[in-house]
Amino acid sequence: MIYAGIAGTGSYLPEKVLTNHDLERMVDTSDAWIRERTGIGKRHIAAEGETTCDLAEAAARSAMAQAHVRGEDIDLIIVATTTPDRVFPSTACLLQERLGNHGCTAFDVQAVCTGFVYAMGIADKFIRSGSHRCALVVGAETLSRIIDWTDRTTCVLFGDGAGAVVLKAQDEPGIIATHLHADGAYKDLLTVPAGISQGYGAMQGKEAFIQMRGNEVFRVAVNTLGQIVDETLQKNGLDQADIDWLVPHQANIRIINATARKLGLSTDHVVQTVEDHGNTSAASIPLALDVAVRDGRIKRGNKLLLEAFGGGFTWGSALITY
Ligand code: ACO
Repeated sequence: MIYAGIAGTGSYLPEKVLTNHDLERMVDTSDAWIRERTGIGKRHIAAEGETTCDLAEAAARSAMAQAHVRGEDIDLIIVATTTPDRVFPSTACLLQERLGNHGCTAFDVQAVCTGFVYAMGIADKFIRSGSHRCALVVGAETLSRIIDWTDRTTCVLFGDGAGAVVLKAQDEPGIIATHLHADGAYKDLLTVPAGISQGYGAMQGKEAFIQMRGNEVFRVAVNTLGQIVDETLQKNGLDQADIDWLVPHQANIRIINATARKLGLSTDHVVQTVEDHGNTSAASIPLALDVAVRDGRIKRGNKLLLEAFGGGFTWGSALITY
């Protein structure tokens, strides 16, 4: 049997930091409110002219260095992003060119905050099929570009960043299983309503920015993530105690804690970066993973449960032996 295993991780955060106190000067909010409701203390914001591909490249190079992989060794590049540099070519193709790779499979995945888990699921299937042996999977976002900075209900939540993993074919299970879901019936609860085929005109106003019914999103997210945890454990014959680390999408500390409770995991087995990164959508899981790999918390052989929930709605999990 062929499996996909994580050979390297990397991440990148833009230099500029926006604290809750900075936001207090921009909208009617407070550090205390943001911390209490979300757990967020600060987030990173891309510089003017700094694009999603710039962030993706830095994260990718770091993951490739850890995996001892060169651009030409990669035969699959998937970038999960909601904020691509261009309508086309895909950010994956832009990244491929920068990495000096010519000819490999390269495409973007759009599943908003669940994008990285979707991309891992797709890459896993490519590698298991035997058609590809070395995949670069990136989650990268410049969400600051689709935020209405006058809307206090959304602008305090999000940040920019990128994370990446290199997956290689191996004999032992690395990625054990992925479980991916979506339900478009929830399309209006969390959305940027503007879109290309509606015409560029629609992209100038408020419709070009994130709109969210936060309360309702929160309720569905907590329920759905509880279900995906159950589904992942049941379908793979595992018990809560088998999970060493929960690496959740970093949207809100209250959502993360609810999922950890569901797993019976104490918070010291949960990777939490939302305080420092905010919600970086598709980038948040690989960013969190890289932080915990590099600080030595996540060790080889550990069982990881990655889970995410986002616009669509989309949701999913990846069960991995690191
Ligand atoms: N600062 C101060 N007050 C605020 C702010 C703010 N930034 N934003 C809203 N308020 C006010 C509201 O106006 C409301 O005031 P009112 O009672 O006078 O009407 C009050 O605070 C409470 O607002 P709620 O929306 O009920 O606050 P809630 O406890 O639900 O927290 C939050 C809001 C943090 C957005 C929460 O609903 C949440 O986290 N939802 C999930 C969002 C999420 O995770 N989205 C992303 C998931 S998918 C993805 O990652 C893209």
